[in-house]
Amino acid sequence: MAEILDGKFISQQIQDELYLEVNRIKEKGGKIPHLAAVLVGNDGASETYVAAKVKACEKVGFNSTLVRLPETTTEQELLDKIELLNSDDEIDGYIVQLPLPKHINEHKIVEAVAPEKDVDGFHPQNVGRMALNLPTYLPATPYGIVQLLERYKIETSGKHCVVLGRSHIVGSPMSILMARNAFPGNCTVTLCHSRTANLKEFTQKADILIVALGKPEFVTADMVKDGVVVVDVGITRIASNTTKSGFKLVGDVHYDSVLPKASYITPVPGGVGPMTIASLLVNTLKASKKEIYS
Ligand code: GUN
Repeated sequence: MAEILDGKFISQQIQDELYLEVNRIKEKGGKIPHLAAVLVGNDGASETYVAAKVKACEKVGFNSTLVRLPETTTEQELLDKIELLNSDDEIDGYIVQLPLPKHINEHKIVEAVAPEKDVDGFHPQNVGRMALNLPTYLPATPYGIVQLLERYKIETSGKHCVVLGRSHIVGSPMSILMARNAFPGNCTVTLCHSRTANLKEFTQKADILIVALGKPEFVTADMVKDGVVVVDVGITRIASNTTKSGFKLVGDVHYDSVLPKASYITPVPGGVGPMTIASLLVNTLKASKKEIYS
């Protein structure tokens, strides 16, 4: 039976450490880390995520600023706002919550964020630095997974890591990080995606399986080998007649059937999700200390 990779617990542990660090900074009269989040429009999920990020800042003692802009904001107006944030010395790091309204070019916006303030790690310069194993801001979800594996001291060196999904936010960076000459890392990595033929042949060979497809309960017990380490990034709300609310949250992995075969597994919710917030906060602290770009 698998040991649970308890993201909720580790995320809290990291946030407790950040709280202590903020107190040390305050005692020395240093600058309190300050994160800004830009939210354009009224996307429900984005509102929830951004609210959680701002609340997490407050809990660890960071300063935070929420910049709300209407759905009708033009690309130029958003670029003007970004320029203000880039030159505002009080703001250490900031994020522009994605997705953006369709009339705004996301690439243009991501590239306008000053790399030294890009605590999302989305700017091409920071993606390049990650690929070169140079100090950088790692994107929140991959960084969260890395920290989870690190804190549970999961052996990764020489293992076969199979990543399902090639998104720019999770799958692609995860494949780079697991192949790096670092811990966690030093894996032989296979990156599978929607065009992969005979997917099961790959998943069955995985020592470490990282699933970021957005397909509820896609990975079933017959697709994994005994002793696999499973990291489930998916989170989907599905109808359920076993809960009062009439729905439940499930991952990309069929948890109940895979659990007995795995050596470690992340639950959904309470696995990877909470780690992303902790990672954003760690990146913000790094930004305020000018650890990456000095
Ligand atoms: N939308 C979904 N995930 C993220 C994230 O990590 N950062 C930003 N800025 N937007 C997102």
